[in-house]
Amino acid sequence: MGALPLLADPRPRLKPKSTATSSSYKTSEKFYLPRPDIKGNKSFFRVLAARASRRQFAHVSDEKLATFLWYSAKALSINQGPHNIFCQHRYVPSAGGLHPIDLIVIDVHEGSVSVYDPIAHALCRLDVAEENVVAFLRYSQTVLDAGSGILIWFAARPDKVSAKYTHELSLIWRDVGALIASMYLIAEALSLNYCALGALGSQELQTLTGDNSILGAGGCILGSR
Ligand SMILES: Cc1cc2nc3c(=O)[nH]c(=O)nc-3n(C[C@H](O)[C@H](O)[C@H](O)COP(=O)(O)O)c2cc1C
Repeated sequence: MGALPLLADPRPRLKPKSTATSSSYKTSEKFYLPRPDIKGNKSFFRVLAARASRRQFAHVSDEKLATFLWYSAKALSINQGPHNIFCQHRYVPSAGGLHPIDLIVIDVHEGSVSVYDPIAHALCRLDVAEENVVAFLRYSQTVLDAGSGILIWFAARPDKVSAKYTHELSLIWRDVGALIASMYLIAEALSLNYCALGALGSQELQTLTGDNSILGAGGCILGSR
């Protein structure tokens, strides 16, 4: 075997760039989601023991989707650091608290595409061309059939991480891993089916959203049992 390609260590920049741009998605309506109302109390270790990739996806109620998104990505506190760099605490960890992964939520049945707003706990509809939605669904279908479930694509923003760290890409990939692992457990705790997807879909996601500053970092499908 040849030498393994070693990745450079990410390091905090001595002078952070204050250029972390906000998203450039074109959005229209904003739908505020209900706060979770968790009843029952599944033990953590029972959830861990039951977790598995499940690949049948029935329709998910708005309440369950809202609860899933809350525990997966809701910003619980935000601190503004030097150079306008914002650091958040969420249920799921992220390097430097930067949370560079946006969730693009696609209701396969409705054909609607939204981005989750982790501060407002809301879904913001994206203005997307219908033919691009059809093309994106065709692409994701080649990976795994979403049935009547919800497709969630991970839109990574390298600029958010490179504002604070050099050699930022490995941090993004590890953040995606932390997110996927947490989502599997959250889905299981809510008795929802979930499966991660290995495809990245950068080009398809950029075409869908019209935003060339994001990288496709894979996705997942969520469905009722
Ligand atoms: C990063 C990642 C990518 C994955 N990609 C796919 C995929 O594209 N299609 C699929 O059917 N399963 C995918 N899976 C699910 C794995 O195949 C599954 O976790 C593995 O078979 C072990 O099964 P288990 O999750 O039930 O323990 C992925 C899982 C991870 C963590």
